[in-house]
Amino acid sequence: MTEKNLAEHAISVRSRRNLMEAMRGEAFAFAKYKLFARQARNNGDNELADMFDKTADQEYMEHFVEQADLLQLVGTDEQDVTNAIAGESFEVDTLYKRFAEEAHEDGDEQVAHRFEEIRRDEAFHQLAFHEALIKIQTRQRIMRGATGRSAKAHDF
Ligand SMILES: [Fe+2]
Ligand SMILES: [Fe+2]
Repeated sequence: MTEKNLAEHAISVRSRRNLMEAMRGEAFAFAKYKLFARQARNNGDNELADMFDKTADQEYMEHFVEQADLLQLVGTDEQDVTNAIAGESFEVDTLYKRFAEEAHEDGDEQVAHRFEEIRRDEAFHQLAFHEALIKIQTRQRIMRGATGRSAKAHDF
């Protein structure tokens, strides 16, 4: 969701910030419980595994989704892809870059290596979303050309 959309939205800045923080917690709980479920299943405790899986689903499908609705996190495909590019770009250019440098400074080479490797994956995500955005925008131009007037060279 863009800053402009946020500004037009009736929810206070603090509530939006709290929603974002809560969603990060829910997303983390989801991922963590999925790992715990896998561990419990590997150990043969299916009852505990099911409990973790069921709880994980609620953290995501209910708590995260309900809060995402309030924030109007999901927009048009074009907005969603733009949002994704911003997130991936932040990871590539700022977050994982700094984290890798700091881990290296602290002598945590394994951690630094992992951050660098993940950063490269994020760069691929960033590129793939850029390509998706170009496809969406090109399709929109073609659609506009087909419904309105005939497409001209300068539309592309
Ligand atoms: Fe929750
Ligand atoms: Fe990513």
